[in-house]
Amino acid sequence: MKGYYFDHAASSWPKPPQVTEAMVKWLESNGANPGRGSHQSAMEAARTIYRCRVSLAELFGIANPNDISFTANATEALNIAIKGFLHQGDHVISTGLEHNSVRRPLEWMRQEKQVSITYVPADKQGRIQLDQVEKAFHANTKLLVCSHASNLLGSILPVEKLAEMCKARGVRLLVDAAQTAGAYPIDVRSMGIDMLAFPGHKGLLGPQGTGGLYLHPEVEVEPLFHGGTGSRSEETSQPKTRPDRYEAGTRNTVGIVGLDQGIRYIMQETVAVIREKESRMIRILMEGLQDLNGVSCLGPPVGEERTSIVAFTVEAKDPAEVAHQLDRNYNIAVRAGYHCTPLGHQTAGTLGTGAIRASIGYFTTIDEIEYLLHAMREITRKS
Ligand SMILES: Cc1ncc(COP(=O)(O)O)c(C=O)c1O
Repeated sequence: MKGYYFDHAASSWPKPPQVTEAMVKWLESNGANPGRGSHQSAMEAARTIYRCRVSLAELFGIANPNDISFTANATEALNIAIKGFLHQGDHVISTGLEHNSVRRPLEWMRQEKQVSITYVPADKQGRIQLDQVEKAFHANTKLLVCSHASNLLGSILPVEKLAEMCKARGVRLLVDAAQTAGAYPIDVRSMGIDMLAFPGHKGLLGPQGTGGLYLHPEVEVEPLFHGGTGSRSEETSQPKTRPDRYEAGTRNTVGIVGLDQGIRYIMQETVAVIREKESRMIRILMEGLQDLNGVSCLGPPVGEERTSIVAFTVEAKDPAEVAHQLDRNYNIAVRAGYHCTPLGHQTAGTLGTGAIRASIGYFTTIDEIEYLLHAMREITRKS
């Protein structure tokens, strides 16, 4: 369905043409199960998956590609990391900006495993104070888990500083890179990230059904899933070797073929160029929205760092109604509601109302932004 797509923070679209081409070519030429046989087609499938692991390792500064496991999305990666790393009675620190994909597994651990949680609050613009993080550490704190960037406010968290604080206390750091992977520089070694959960279908420009989890070689996580890996089949327990330990069952080979092309495209363009273009475009969108009658943008002010999203409210208008008008009258796709982050809305002061979120990608054009602004101008005029 063609139209004006401003929902890249949910899933990016369109994808670079080579993503689609490689997936079609793969489906036409090979449907074998990776690593489940020694025939040539299965070996080629396994090699193809490995190539994507290598691309991801290069993009994220990961020394050993086998420390990356493929998952279906960021949520699965976060569940594996949170449920497999924490033990009964541990304490975990998180923030008041988290997506339900962090919050719900944490709350499940609280209920089922008596894990205690401290959510460090953020200010209305989505910034956290390091002295408040400092105060949140307890003797039994084992993990700090946070989003790299808020999927509502667009604010970017100071991951390097959090990593230093964690390291000084022997606490591990899990980063949810759902809003930054592919669109913002990430180097796990220089940033001190112990675990990185990422989707393949957003900034990495791959298809839905792809994602992954990086685990530092010294971080031990109990697998969430158990089953066939095509390796050590005579043993009753899950193999200790990575990535098989976390990859029970057949992987999404065709999706990973597409993901690899998305990552190669990003590396060719460079994350720096993507980031520069998206920052410039989101600034134009935000400045245009702020000029409109009754529109208030959430998150950091213009000029401060933010990702490629801008959430906003319109005075006396229901966000769902505005999104509906944009969709039906202008063929513009934005997302209204709570964006799976009631915590973020509580922080922003929009828990009662929700907000409208427009998110852009590398292929968003200035004409599309002008059209969204034109539509919003008409909608706000009709109040
Ligand atoms: C911050 C954040 N975390 C996690 C997720 C979940 O990602 P996925 O849909 O790949 O599971 C999202 C998706 O919007 C997100 O924005």
